[in-house]
Amino acid sequence: SLRVLTGITTTGIPHLGNYVGAIRPAILASQQPATESFFFLADYHALIKCDDPDRIERSRLAIAATWLAAGLDTSRVVFYRQSDIPEIPELTWLLTCVTAKGLMNRAHAYKASVDQNELAGNEPDDGVTMGLFSYPILMAADILIFNANKVPVGRDQVQHIEMARDVAQRFNHLFGNGRQFFVLPEAAVDEAVATLPGLDGRKMSKSYDNTVPLFEGGAKGLREAIARIVTDSRLPGEPKDPDSTSLTALFDAFATPSEREAFRADLRAGLGWGDAKQRLVEQLEREIAPMRARYEELIAHPAKIEEALQEGARKARALATPLLAELRQAVGLRPMV
Ligand code: TYM
Repeated sequence: SLRVLTGITTTGIPHLGNYVGAIRPAILASQQPATESFFFLADYHALIKCDDPDRIERSRLAIAATWLAAGLDTSRVVFYRQSDIPEIPELTWLLTCVTAKGLMNRAHAYKASVDQNELAGNEPDDGVTMGLFSYPILMAADILIFNANKVPVGRDQVQHIEMARDVAQRFNHLFGNGRQFFVLPEAAVDEAVATLPGLDGRKMSKSYDNTVPLFEGGAKGLREAIARIVTDSRLPGEPKDPDSTSLTALFDAFATPSEREAFRADLRAGLGWGDAKQRLVEQLEREIAPMRARYEELIAHPAKIEEALQEGARKARALATPLLAELRQAVGLRPMV
């Protein structure tokens, strides 16, 4: 059977980019026959960018409730906190020892920090922790510990999954003795929404402060965010270029092909930006409003979420523990006492 796995870093509040890039495709994949799914809260990854424990806790709860509200079925999906699986950091170390430093030098997130330092006239590695530098190895361990074949993500994560393949191949080659300990994972990217733009047209991202929150702030928050989408100054009645703003890309991510065409045609025919934003809000609400109601119910009952995560951790560890025992033996470590 096929194994699908994905995670979200618990540093923020889920936005539309997380939903269309990862959550929605992952849940759709989990509903296919002969599929085993692993969806998790990447709270070890959160420590790389965040030293505020309360923020991590709030984000973990919000992201967990978002998955459940979006339709994750815990009887079909292993749903867990990364930090409940100690085999993950242990595998990270085994993988770290076979990963070339040069491979990590090429990681986009690390290179972006180095470039920023260069622009600011700082030392190249200023502010770069070892956590940030070796982040892709922790992510490789997340994927390889459950031998996932398919990893639904937005485009920004594709390089990390390619690195996970490299690391897996290296480990198989060194210790497999003809055996393939690890399956080579593949990114599953929905090209239509691989990079959802934010309010200003750049990639929707917490770090650009241009996100549209999925549930946070309620219907009012959604309306207010949409009102801030940047458009040109063409007046109602003037023809608009549908691709001159991120409004259309957001609409597309929540519409059928014929709805998309109609929206574009109306913009070309002079639909006002204010009316277009109103249409976008209605389109989003059709999909989001029912989920938001479930989200609010879930957030009010964190004990239920906790129960689901503990059950998920038990299922996940039942798979991770025996694999790690084999890996320990393969590299020359003794079984755990
Ligand atoms: P994170 O938390 O930054 O993002 C979670 C998911 O949302 C996707 N995404 C987007 N997709 C389309 N358009 C956007 N504007 C957009 N913004 C975010 C991301 O591509 C991602 O799929 N390192 C990962 C978390 C992680 C992980 C893993 C993922 C840890 N271990 C193992 C897969 C497998 C991250 O920080 O994603």
